[in-house]
Amino acid sequence: MAESANSIHNSGQKKLAGKVAIITGGASGIGEETARLFAHHGARMVVIADIQDDLGIQVAASIGSHRCSYVRCDVTDEDQVKNLVDSTVNAHGQLDIMFSNAGILSPSDQTILDLDFSAYDRLLAVNARGTAACVKHAARSMVERRVRGSIVCTASVSASHGGLRRTDYVMSKHAVKGLMRAASAQLGAHGVRVNCVSPSGLTTPLTRAAHAAMETKELQKQYAQSSRLKGVFLTPKHVADAVLFLACGDSEFVTGHDLVVDGCFDGV
Ligand SMILES: NC(=O)c1ccc[n+]([C@@H]2O[C@H](COP(=O)([O-])OP(=O)(O)OC[C@H]3O[C@@H](n4cnc5c(N)ncnc54)[C@H](O)[C@@H]3O)[C@@H](O)[C@H]2O)c1
Repeated sequence: MAESANSIHNSGQKKLAGKVAIITGGASGIGEETARLFAHHGARMVVIADIQDDLGIQVAASIGSHRCSYVRCDVTDEDQVKNLVDSTVNAHGQLDIMFSNAGILSPSDQTILDLDFSAYDRLLAVNARGTAACVKHAARSMVERRVRGSIVCTASVSASHGGLRRTDYVMSKHAVKGLMRAASAQLGAHGVRVNCVSPSGLTTPLTRAAHAAMETKELQKQYAQSSRLKGVFLTPKHVADAVLFLACGDSEFVTGHDLVVDGCFDGV
């Protein structure tokens, strides 16, 4: 009975009251949903960083300019990432949460037999190098200001499994997990936590574009076949809930962890 009273009490709790967060790739999909959830949980400011200006401005405005802003930042450019962190700290005092989430897929299948290295370079620059730049500059800011911050990176089930295609994507997400492991070990002494969230396939603008010939429902059904958990489709909200857990004090002793959100992925 005490437990149920407690959970009812907690359902209205603002888990991020007063916190300042950056979300890369926040204009769309998982990042957008997380921006909305962070604002709902009382974040003082959520900075959406993306390269889709119109969409980013629109999402920030719909959340409210007192809680959310948009900054153009291409994560492949370290200077832009540094400026993003510096401008956030200058405007809002500090950075408590970095959700490094921007990511892309290559346009072709990228099997090892047909690997296109210009697409490979582009993908690694965003997914792996871009994530490293975000973790580096967020961590520097937190360490310098003695902020016990939380850094969350979007990896994927592709950080732990291979597949019949998307070699570059699988490599990039393994790199994100390696980055998280190295950074969490190094930043623990400073009280900075670093974790990953690893979703299985879900329908977002990224995956809808990659399967343009398929209806959204059809794509959802295809993804559902890879999960042993039945009766529910993975949505951006499920992923955002996991990110919120890693970002807030509920996970105070959790670092170096890859939180899979995959309904028990069986790799089909
Ligand atoms: N959708 C899935 O099935 C799935 C599964 C596992 C992991 N992921 C990962 O989740 C993350 C978010 O993907 P999503 O599915 O929400 O896709 P999405 O396309 O809806 O969102 C990704 C966002 O990243 C932005 N972005 C791309 N390149 C950028 C750059 N250079 N600098 C800044 N922003 C950039 C895009 O403009 C977009 O707004 C990615 O890292 C992706 O790899 C997605």
